[in-house]
Amino acid sequence: MESTRKRLIDLLEKQEEHISGQQLSEQLDISRTAVWKHMKELRKDGYEIEAVQRKGYKIVSSPDKVSENTLRWGLDTHWIGCELHHFSQVESTQDIVHRLAKENKPHGTVVIADEQLKGKGRMAREWHSPEGKGIWMSLLLRPTLPPVQAPQLTLLTATVLAKVIDECSELSPAIKWPNDILIHHKKVSGILTEMQAEQDQIQYVVLGIGMNVNQNEDEIPSSIAHKASSLKLESGDEWDIPKTIQTILRTFETTYDAFIKSGFEQVKYEWERYGYRIGEKVTISTMKRTFEAVLIGIEPDGALRARDMDGKVEKLYSAEIHWGEGGYHA
Ligand code: BTN
Repeated sequence: MESTRKRLIDLLEKQEEHISGQQLSEQLDISRTAVWKHMKELRKDGYEIEAVQRKGYKIVSSPDKVSENTLRWGLDTHWIGCELHHFSQVESTQDIVHRLAKENKPHGTVVIADEQLKGKGRMAREWHSPEGKGIWMSLLLRPTLPPVQAPQLTLLTATVLAKVIDECSELSPAIKWPNDILIHHKKVSGILTEMQAEQDQIQYVVLGIGMNVNQNEDEIPSSIAHKASSLKLESGDEWDIPKTIQTILRTFETTYDAFIKSGFEQVKYEWERYGYRIGEKVTISTMKRTFEAVLIGIEPDGALRARDMDGKVEKLYSAEIHWGEGGYHA
């Protein structure tokens, strides 16, 4: 049974205008005094509630603390986040979404945590997920696509994250192949895609998004401080985490719908627009050889395209890429 508090917030959210204490007490089947007490509690939790005589109550703003309510408030999406779970501490949001997928939860289910104790990165790496400092979230998707197209969803997500950072700040994000989001050459966000599939059909995808948002310098582990950062460190501003989550979900929904309707072309265009070192000369090492090439873009199967000095185009699935002093392995 949903709590009265949650039903009260839902009722307040639905109203464009004020709703009277009498109406609230009737609809929630509680006394006027109980309504008043709940309002007092909500205000204590950071909700700004306007109370106007003879008109009633209206939520003006919600607190910037992440909760199911603050995330739902004003989230005008059609399918993503309709089922949304928020936890203060979990081992990994990925595991929870796998479990929910097996319980037949719908396409678009979202799980968010304030802190992960065993956050998972790509290639069995650990993902540092300290409390209240970032976005640690997993999405459940049930696309009607063949498994070979799964990498497109990861590339799509990278474009969504880059777009959101680009549109919400003065920062210039870049996507490092295949799907790390960099700012000023440092990683602020990563994506982990896990899939359950039959031979020719995806059953479900768990798409994990990790975004370092409000960490200060001493909150980035020293072992990765040379290559990792947070939005706050790079922009100088504290970010509103619930609002950023909502913007990601909204942008994800429209981008995903357009992709299902019209195909990968637009995603490819956006990815290449943000692509890190695209158009630049780099040194590439694969299992077979080391060569110089210019990065050109991506393939629909997620491979990186590069043109070597003889003009031959190579498709890369796993490679070490170097430029100047630096380099990366993917
Ligand atoms: C990477 O290595 O770049 C991918 C990092 C993905 C981290 C996110 S945080 C939310 C979700 N839960 C996890 O345990 N991992 C992903």
